[in-house]
Amino acid sequence: MISKKALNTPSSGIRLMYNAAVKYENVLNFCIGEPGFQTPEHIVEAARKALLEGCTKYTHNAGVLKLRQAIADKLKRENHLDVDPEKNIICTTGAGEAILLALLTLADPGDDVLIPAPGWTNYYGHLGIAGLNNVTVKTKEEDRFCPRAQAIEEALTEKSRVLILNTPANPTGTVIPESELYEIAKIAEKYDLAVLADEPYEKFIYDEQKHVSFASLPKMAARTVTINSFSKTYCMTGWRVGYASGPEEVIRGMTKFQENVSSCVNAAAQQGAVAALTGPQDEIKTMKAAYETCRNLLTEGLNHIAGFSCIKPQGAFYVFANIEEMGMDSLSAAMMILDRTRITMAPGSSFGKDGEGFLRISFCAGREDIEEMLLRLEKEFGRK
Ligand SMILES: Cc1ncc(COP(=O)(O)O)c(C=O)c1O
Repeated sequence: MISKKALNTPSSGIRLMYNAAVKYENVLNFCIGEPGFQTPEHIVEAARKALLEGCTKYTHNAGVLKLRQAIADKLKRENHLDVDPEKNIICTTGAGEAILLALLTLADPGDDVLIPAPGWTNYYGHLGIAGLNNVTVKTKEEDRFCPRAQAIEEALTEKSRVLILNTPANPTGTVIPESELYEIAKIAEKYDLAVLADEPYEKFIYDEQKHVSFASLPKMAARTVTINSFSKTYCMTGWRVGYASGPEEVIRGMTKFQENVSSCVNAAAQQGAVAALTGPQDEIKTMKAAYETCRNLLTEGLNHIAGFSCIKPQGAFYVFANIEEMGMDSLSAAMMILDRTRITMAPGSSFGKDGEGFLRISFCAGREDIEEMLLRLEKEFGRK
C-alpha cells in the first residue's frame, strides 16, 4: 500500500525534538530557523490591500509578472545576474519547493546529487521524493565546514548530475570564499554538472565576508539555478514565498511541475513579496545587527560550558556546536538536554550522518532567550 519513496523519504530529527518538547513547560526553543522578528508592516499591509482589492484568483504558474520583474531587478542590482523576468524566473511556495522542482527538472530517478555535508535536512527529503541518490561531499570542522573543489572532485560518480551549493550554509554558517567558488566552477564545467545555488541567507553575513552568487561567475549562469526565499530576509516563513532563477528551459520545466502541483504561489502573498523587494530595506540591517550580537554572545558563552565547543559562524543564524566530549549520539544528547534544561537544539544527525557529534543551535530568536539558555546550561553542566 505504501510506496518505497514514501517509506524511504526521511523525516527530520528537528520535528522529533519539536514534538518531544510539547510535554514540557517553559521550553526555550533553539531548534528551528525562525526569525524572532515579525514581517515588516508595509509587507503585511500590501497583502491585506491586495486581498481587499480582489487579488484572490489563480496567477500565472510562474508568478505575477510584477513580482518576477521585482526579482529580476533585485538579482541585477545585488547579485550581478542578468535575467529576463518572463523566461528565467519562477516564484515558488518557499525556497524548499524551488529546490524540489529544480531537482525534478535537472535529474532523472537514479541519478546522483552531490551535497556538501552536513547539509540542510530537507535536501535529503527532496532526494527521496525525486528518487535521487545522495553523494556526500566531505567537509571538516577545522576548515569551517567549507566544501572544497577537491573534495567535490573526489566525491564525483559516473551518475553525478547536480551539485548543491549552499552559502551561507545551514547548519554550519559557512560562507564559501569567492576564490573557492572559482575552483568549484572549474569542476562544474569539467564534469558538466548543473549547480543548485541555494542562497536564502545571503543577507546574514558577518565580519569581513561577502556574498557571491555562484551564477555570477563567468559561464556559470548557463548551468546554475539560483534559489532564494523571502522567509529569512523578510521574516516571512509562514507566507511561503521563494523563487528560482535559471536557464529558460529549466525554468520552463519547473513551471510545468508547479502547474501540476500547486498551480501558483498564494496570490496575496505574491503582492506582499513585491512590497518586500520594492519597499524599505532598513529592517534587514537591524536584524543583521541583532543576529550578530546574538552570535557573539552565544559562541563566547557556549565555549565556556563543559561538553560544548563551537566555531564562530560567518553567516546564516546557526551555531553548529561540537558535543563529542559528551560521548553520546546527537539525538540522545538533544533529548537529554531537553529533559534536564528545557532547551531544544537540533541533533546534528538531522543534517546527514556527517552531522553526528554536533548540535545545531539557532540564534535568530532573540538575545534574552540566549542569555537564559546560557544560564540554564551552565547551571546543569558547569563551566570548563
Ligand atoms: C538552506 C535552506 N534552504 C532553503 C530553505 C527553505 O526556505 P523556505 O522554504 O522557507 O523558503 C531553508 C529553510 O530553512 C534553508 O535553511
